[in-house]
Amino acid sequence: MAGESLLWTPFRLRGLELRNRFVLLAHWNGLDAPDGTPTEDLAAYYATRARGGAGLIVTGSHAMHPIGQMSPNYGRAWDREAIPAYRRIVDAVHPHGAHVFAQLSHAGHTSLSHPPRELWAPSQMPEPYSRYNTVEMGPAEIEAVVEGFAVSAVNMREAGYDGVEIKIGHDGLLRSFVSPFFNRRQDAYGGSFENRMRLPLEVLAAMRDAVGPDWPISVRLCLHEYTPFGYGLDYGLEVGRALAESGHVDLFSSDAGSFSSFWMEVPPAAVPQLAFNDLNAALKRATPVPVVAFGRIKKPADAERILREGDADLIGMARQLIADPELPNKVRERRLREVRPCIACNDACVLQVMQRDPIRCVSNPAAGRELRRGALTPAATPRHVAVIGGGPAGLSAAVTLARRGHRVTLFERESEPGGLIRLAARQPLHAEIGESVLHLASEAERLGVDVRLGVEATVSAIETLGPDAVVVATGSRPYMPGRDALDGPSPPLASEGLWASMGGLVPGVADDPRVVSTDDVMSGRVDAGPSVVVLDRNAHWEACGTAEFLLEAGRQVEFVTPLGAAGADLEPSNAALFYQRVRPRGLRITLHTDIRSIGPDGVVAVDVHTNEERTLRDVDTIVLAIGRRSNDALYWALRERLPTFRIGDCRAPRLLQHAIYDGDTIGREFEARLAEAG
Ligand SMILES: Cc1cc2nc3c(=O)[nH]c(=O)nc-3n(C[C@H](O)[C@H](O)[C@H](O)COP(=O)(O)O)c2cc1C
Ligand code: SF4
Repeated sequence: MAGESLLWTPFRLRGLELRNRFVLLAHWNGLDAPDGTPTEDLAAYYATRARGGAGLIVTGSHAMHPIGQMSPNYGRAWDREAIPAYRRIVDAVHPHGAHVFAQLSHAGHTSLSHPPRELWAPSQMPEPYSRYNTVEMGPAEIEAVVEGFAVSAVNMREAGYDGVEIKIGHDGLLRSFVSPFFNRRQDAYGGSFENRMRLPLEVLAAMRDAVGPDWPISVRLCLHEYTPFGYGLDYGLEVGRALAESGHVDLFSSDAGSFSSFWMEVPPAAVPQLAFNDLNAALKRATPVPVVAFGRIKKPADAERILREGDADLIGMARQLIADPELPNKVRERRLREVRPCIACNDACVLQVMQRDPIRCVSNPAAGRELRRGALTPAATPRHVAVIGGGPAGLSAAVTLARRGHRVTLFERESEPGGLIRLAARQPLHAEIGESVLHLASEAERLGVDVRLGVEATVSAIETLGPDAVVVATGSRPYMPGRDALDGPSPPLASEGLWASMGGLVPGVADDPRVVSTDDVMSGRVDAGPSVVVLDRNAHWEACGTAEFLLEAGRQVEFVTPLGAAGADLEPSNAALFYQRVRPRGLRITLHTDIRSIGPDGVVAVDVHTNEERTLRDVDTIVLAIGRRSNDALYWALRERLPTFRIGDCRAPRLLQHAIYDGDTIGREFEARLAEAG
């Protein structure tokens, strides 16, 4: 970014002066109490992002009426008794120089509860994705909504918030009133554009009346529903113009998608960065109201360009500021190399809150745990720690240890750091996951970790180095039944048939050269033949991404899984986009099915419920994703000689988030663990 950055120029908004252009976009994060009252954890979450430099913080949605809660632990803005708790949020944010708006919403036909309580909507009609039927609102309910927004705005002003944002966004009641698909009413609130706009305009007028002319009101506006039946950008802009003409809107926060196109609400890595910039720019040009840009904005240089080109006035980021709350300060201090990238995985942030659990982040183990994982404490007695393995767990440990002032030597036997994430990043549309380890490796270098690439750490090499402790992060290998030394003494888990793939008794697997692992395929060690079967018990990207990689390479692929879905554990928007890509390419998905044996006549598949067999013939390659085993031999060899700890896949093969978390944890708790080890 040559010259002065626009990102750190102030912005005036109806009597407020925002210190810069960074806006933390609203995201409900599950940190409220079970009844929706704000907690100390929630206050610490926002305070951390205010301290990190955001100019404006918009809180996650608060319900403005009890029926409007998307789940029972959703904010309760209508409730005057909650005002003191809300004041604690404001008091936590303001000392750090940020302003804070409360987002107000009625969840309408969307709910995180399955099955939900009562759902209010303009018309009786299930929202297609969530299926549950709705109450067609009558005059009393409409009045309650108008009043609820006004009362909630007053409550938030009394709690000290600097403004509110109402949600006519990707979910919730107000967008469904605006939407011609969802609003089939024939009364004063439906049937024509003017009538569909009536409720949002009444809400805005009531709020303005209640809070007076000087208090900012922002509108989160869905500009495009991205469904075959929903509205598009032209209509979204028409809505924007009608709202702006009311004179009550001080700020638009751009938004898109709907529950029926949920992959566009919080777009994962498969949706390109800046994919919504045309929407942002169109809204900016449609009305004089200032605009917050949104959607997969993570690089400061992109944010800067959006401002320079006049496509928006402010830059909205949700996930990038979950992953790195300090990004605004790092931009101001020109520490761009230190920015921890969001990898758009949705694996912890979105997945957690969809389950109504507190937010987490794959890249940032402190997200949602701000009170427990605050600033690092410098080591009282710096030690020399050897970290074995340069995958995400080892790098994460090395970085946290080095930040605390320990001397770290890291051994990685490959010529590049990254471990399995290097293979994962080769899966189609997965390059961004690689940024997580590139960032950690860059931080390790910056912090002076002695990184020794291409060096195998043996017991004698480590003893010669003479560290005070060893952290073993040697990863895992694919479980290949019958080929693994560990198969011997362990009794098999299943004797035959159902789920036998986990027990190691599938005849043919051990000796057949056609049977390979996902690592074999993704590393390029094996070139799969034209017809491939992928057996998946991993339920995540290991099998799905490998299958897609093989499809892209022109192979015919049959995806076999004993589970009820391919990628059963994928975050739903990732899963939806995966299906949208692989089904047209001819991926054959065979569910509820395991492999019973592999022989010269073919692969014998079995239905796990009926035991019915089917033989798959002319299969050239069988790729197994049926589990992994820890590479823990070095750990067992070292632990009697030196204080030794195992983390990441070496401890138990799991996901990236666990590897990074384990590494950060040993870095933070090193002294206590060392004392325990005696
Ligand atoms: C965990 C999570 C919860 C969200 N909850 C809300 C919400 O309460 N209100 C809202 O308007 N948007 C919500 N969003 C959407 C974000 O505001 C934002 O539009 C989306 O994440 C895309 O922006 P990004 O690429 O900067 O993350 C949520 C996003 C995430 C990741
Ligand atoms: S969990 Fe993944 S998508 Fe969510 S903020 Fe963290 S890195 Fe980004």
